[in-house]
Amino acid sequence: VHAPLIDSFGRQVTYLRLSVTDRCDLRCTYCMSEHMTFLPRQDVLTLEELYRLATIFMRGGVRKIRLTGGEPLVRKNVMQLFNLLAPHLENGDLDEVTLTTNGTLLARYAEALFAAGVRRVNVSLDTLDAGRYAQITRWGRLQPVLNGIDAALAVGLKVKLNAVAMSGPFEREVDELIRFAHGRGMDLTLIEEMPLGETGLDRSSSFLPLDTLRRSLAERWTLMPIDDRTGGPARYVRLAETGGRLGFITPLSCDFCSSCNRIRVSCTGDLYACMGKEGAIGLRQALRGEDPEEAVCNRIRDALALKPKGHAFEITRHSHSGIARHMSVLGG
Ligand code: GTP
Ligand code: 5AD
Ligand code: SF4
Repeated sequence: VHAPLIDSFGRQVTYLRLSVTDRCDLRCTYCMSEHMTFLPRQDVLTLEELYRLATIFMRGGVRKIRLTGGEPLVRKNVMQLFNLLAPHLENGDLDEVTLTTNGTLLARYAEALFAAGVRRVNVSLDTLDAGRYAQITRWGRLQPVLNGIDAALAVGLKVKLNAVAMSGPFEREVDELIRFAHGRGMDLTLIEEMPLGETGLDRSSSFLPLDTLRRSLAERWTLMPIDDRTGGPARYVRLAETGGRLGFITPLSCDFCSSCNRIRVSCTGDLYACMGKEGAIGLRQALRGEDPEEAVCNRIRDALALKPKGHAFEITRHSHSGIARHMSVLGG
């Protein structure tokens, strides 16, 4: 067992967000530009390599792994990776293996995910209006996502919905999302849009601060603050009317960095100590070289030493944060 992964501010990394592909079958307007160039496949780590990386992190004390993308379920044979991780849930190395998905393929995978020990999935869904869904995702169809959610619930997965807050129709639609989520026993988390990568659209016109949205929600719903945490940055309230939980992720207007417990690795093996910073430490060469265990460990520790105290998204109500990387490189 290696020493725990602790950064220079004393924060211990126990949560790994591992991106398994940069590809996605959608093009959400806040995430990607319409015409994306994806990585050549040989740059992308194999599923075995992703697994080997995960085990190295586990030895450093990582207890929770979330697979992200792009869209993780478009990665060919992605279940192999879940199945490799499954024994680590059984033997207690890991508390949780989960994923963040757009849901388009969830109906096909729900049962296999549950069988591999996954108990919770986060599904991105910003609207229940098929026309608006097609607009936001640039061509996505809503129905397969709704089927995916139903399938996930039917096999016993807990589902959390993620919605990116946007000014405009979303401000009305959020009530329907709340009723939909809470009516099915799902949490709903609202996310402030982060200005990552050029998407071809002006972000400042759609940016909706969550404190504004929260005030307007409070006119229609009774928001009761609660202490629940799910391991991520969301702060929850309970709605008296539904009994369900509503989370707020507010990178721009609130500080959750002081309790940050996570680190991100892209599908090419680049380690990002913080999502709000440019620059990564590559692990791929170390992983493919001699004594990968030792070499990767050293690289991880180098990266941790550089993990900043927090991100600097303040400038980012405008459309540029100076971060060129798209959200889809890390999947959040
Ligand atoms: P759980 O709490 O385990 O359900 O996960 P989560 O909410 O952290 O994960 P999810 O993948 O659903 O992410 C929801 C949103 O939170 C995404 O938009 C992420 O980009 C954002 N997010 C997660 N972690 C961080 C973080 O450390 N910093 C910032 N700025 N955003 C984050
Ligand atoms: N800002 C905030 N959240 C975003 N997501 C994608 N792009 C952005 C962005 N620019 C969300 C997705 C998904 C989660 C992983 O990140 O909707 O729910
Ligand atoms: Fe794909 Fe998710 Fe990005 Fe939308 S937000 S384009 S579903 S990776």
